[in-house]
Formats: sequence, C-alpha cells, structure tokens
Amino acid sequence: MTEQNPEETPKGWDPVVDTYETAFQPFTAQYVDEVLRLADLKPSQEVLDIAAGTGALTLAAAKAGTNVTAIDFSPKMIDRLRVRLAEENLNNASVHVMDGQALGFPGESFDAVFSAFGVFFFPDRHKGFTEMHRVLRRNGCAGVIVWASPFRLTQFLREAMEEAVPEIPPPRPMAGVVELQDADKLLSEMSAAGFRDIDIHTVSRVWTTPSPIWLWEHAPGFTPRIVDVFDHIDAEQKNAVGAAFVRNLTDEFGEGPVHIERQAHIAIGWR
Ligand SMILES: C[S@@+](CC[C@H](N)C(=O)[O-])C[C@H]1O[C@@H](n2cnc3c(N)ncnc32)[C@H](O)[C@@H]1O
Repeated sequence: MTEQNPEETPKGWDPVVDTYETAFQPFTAQYVDEVLRLADLKPSQEVLDIAAGTGALTLAAAKAGTNVTAIDFSPKMIDRLRVRLAEENLNNASVHVMDGQALGFPGESFDAVFSAFGVFFFPDRHKGFTEMHRVLRRNGCAGVIVWASPFRLTQFLREAMEEAVPEIPPPRPMAGVVELQDADKLLSEMSAAGFRDIDIHTVSRVWTTPSPIWLWEHAPGFTPRIVDVFDHIDAEQKNAVGAAFVRNLTDEFGEGPVHIERQAHIAIGWR
C-alpha cells in the first residue's frame, strides 16, 4: 500500500473517474439537489463548486441558470466534467484544475460557494474552509456536504476481504470522513473559518444499483483507497474477495437491485 493517503493526491482520483461517474455521481446528486434547494440560488449568481469531481453540483447549478466555476485537483475529473458540460450544451460553467486549499480567485468573488463530499479529503481542512470564506462575498452562502454515517457498501467489502484474504489489511475509512460525521465538529470548523449562522441539516438518501454482481464489477474502482488495495493483490485473491462480496450481498438483498441508505450532513453557513 502507498504511504500517502491516495485520496489526498490527484493521482489517486484520476483512475476512479469512470466508476465515479457511473456509480457514485447519481447518488451524490441526490444530496446536491438538497443543498442547492437550501441555498436558494438565483439565476446569474456566481457559484463556486470546490472538489467538483464529475460535476454533480456543477451540472445541477448550471442547469438552474447560475454561472458556475468548478475546481478539482484531479485533471481527469476536470476533463470529464468539461465533456459533460459540452454534451449538455451548458455554456455557463467553467472548469479549472486547482487545489481546494489554495484557491486562485480574488477575495469576495462568488455569491455562493459549495463543496460536496470533498473537504474531508483535505489534509488542511482549516485552510480549505478559510479559502471558501475568503472567496465568498459578504452575505453569501456556503454549502458543505459530508457523510454523517458509515457506508454499508465499504463495510461489505471489508467483511469480504476479512473472510477471503485475512492476511491483507482491508481499506479503512479516511480519518477526515469519520471526524466530520460529528456535526458539532463540522459546525465548529466552519465557525473557526469565519462562517456565521451555520445550520446543519442531516438527510438520508438511498443508493440503488442493479445487483450484487454489478456492484462487484465496479467495486475495485470505487475509491482511491480501494483501487490501491486491489492494485496490490493478485487475481486469485481478488476473485476470492469478489465471491465473498457477491455472496454476502446476495444473502441480504437477493440477486436483484441493492438499496443502500446513507446519511449526510448539509451545512449551510453565511459570510
Ligand atoms: C467524493 S468526490 C466528490 C465529487 C463531487 N463533488 C460529488 O459530490 O459527486 C471527491 C472529489 O474531491 C476531489 N479532491 C480531493 N481533494 C482535493 C483537493 N485538495 N483539492 C481539490 N479537489 C480535491 C477529488 O479529486 C474528487 O473529485
């Protein structure tokens, strides 16, 4: 396994673009709809999407008529988002490869700033939140989405690895993801960066995918950390993990659609 957390490097995220877009973006888009509703955006407002990925929030905000700037440190994510925007004829969004902890925009450039499922990967979250605050105009709205509960799917994967390849350490959740499940911590970190009147809305959404087999076909590309683990095991070990994973999911859900529920905190704060 690599020393640095693969989630903290663009190289870690570049290989997961396809799986992210196919498997995850339809799930994160469900929470994004809610943060945009809470932020009550008006057409033509200037919006920044930090750690945009393949663009769940950027696409929705651009379709709502705002002018969106999307940044992500993974060049491959940004390339894909550029293609998506062109395919959907959305000319009111621009994309940039950029680190969310060092935004290349002047202060007070945006009416609203968002980050969906991104800040918990930043090694320096205070810098990330402070940068969000700096580029936001006075009375502007910041919306931050983080996970509020563990992911049953990665638990299935860990259980399958413990069963099939007990000698190999399974991927563990990232510290930042676990820490921000605590809503008070999220609130105090945003408050320390200068945001005021922060409200946290905890919502639940269901991720529906076609079948346990479909999930296994995508699982090795789910997250940078999982890619890293599967890069370091051989084909026989991987098949053994797959067999256990599919069997355990089938025991719980049958051979058809798999429904996995997960909670997220949506923090809305103001400058
Ligand atoms: C889980 S994805 C979320 C994507 C999208 N916001 C969504 O809700 O579907 C996390 C994204 O954060 C990006 N990311 C992680 N650390 C970053 C950093 N320091 N600066 C910019 N982007 C970062 C990754 O490249 C990845 O695209």
